[in-house]
Amino acid sequence: MDKYSSAPCPRHGMPAGPRLEATYEAPPNIALVKYWGLRDRERGLPYNSSLSVTLDRLRSRTTVRFDPDLRDDRVELNGAAASGGPRDGVVRFLDRVRRLAGVPHAAEVRSANNFPTASGMASSASGFAALAGAATAALGLSLSDRRLSQLARLGSGSASRSIFGGFVEWRAGARPDGEDCYARPLYGPDHWPALLDLVVIVKGAPTKQVRSEDAMQTSVATSPVYRRRQAELPARIRKIRSAIGARDARRLFPLIMEECDSFREVCETTRPSLDYLTTTSRALLGEVRSMNREEGRPVAAYTHDAGAHMHVFTLARDAPRVRRRLSSLPGVERTQLLRPGPGARRVR
Ligand code: DP6
Repeated sequence: MDKYSSAPCPRHGMPAGPRLEATYEAPPNIALVKYWGLRDRERGLPYNSSLSVTLDRLRSRTTVRFDPDLRDDRVELNGAAASGGPRDGVVRFLDRVRRLAGVPHAAEVRSANNFPTASGMASSASGFAALAGAATAALGLSLSDRRLSQLARLGSGSASRSIFGGFVEWRAGARPDGEDCYARPLYGPDHWPALLDLVVIVKGAPTKQVRSEDAMQTSVATSPVYRRRQAELPARIRKIRSAIGARDARRLFPLIMEECDSFREVCETTRPSLDYLTTTSRALLGEVRSMNREEGRPVAAYTHDAGAHMHVFTLARDAPRVRRRLSSLPGVERTQLLRPGPGARRVR
């Protein structure tokens, strides 16, 4: 018998055993260099390294309680019992944590976001980062942040980056066992206080039909530009890291857009084609380009993930102008200004 199954059961009137419960909060992140394609699906090992900014104020808050009296896992997402794909993903992830800890118990998981889940603001990243933290803490496993990022990756690749705050790199590594594949912080959330992310929520954004993890493998198999993109990425990542290090928006903003355009080209040349944008999203791309042309310098940089909403990076002094202009486009529902923020943390 392990130490967990011998824990006294309060329901049977015995003294309470260790409470196998913990709560974590984790933020979403927006990728400046996109992860898109796995060389090893089982281990969650990507073809290329990626780079992101962790966002402040937005949070997934997840409580996990393992219970020897529960027959099945119970999963509640945003106040409603989860079923189908979302539940299966959580249960598979819990299975990994149970194997790691050598614990058989089912669990109750309650997770809620303080932002709309279908808003394309990376709820799977914050969700699995919070789940990884809460599930391991509930079972008394104390993992380093690096190990936690490696575990979170198995729920959702981008979740590996949400463990850390500020500017984060997820290194692809080269080893078949994945030991050299992990996320690490490059610069903390206070590195560049003037840099802001204007999140532009567009009306009528379609909900994702295919999980990114599946869609990206179709791109690997069918996009004729996938290999070229892979060849370009190491140099682009070096330049983006250097521009962030120097807090140089003039260098950084064109690189962010170049990378986003390259990601979109891969999506659009995938068969069947992956088109995540709406007419409004495309108008936003054009508006940012026009603004930069008119100002004679890059005042803003667009990027988007596998969704229709836009993240527009800009500096604090330009933000009010950029916001006014983009908010006035037809089809824009609302905008929110976010800063780089802290990473995942245990709250209970
Ligand atoms: C385009 O790891 O979030 O956002 O959990 O299936 O949604 P799912 O996969 P996820 O894919 C992220 C893809 C991306 C780029 C990125 O965040 O690097």
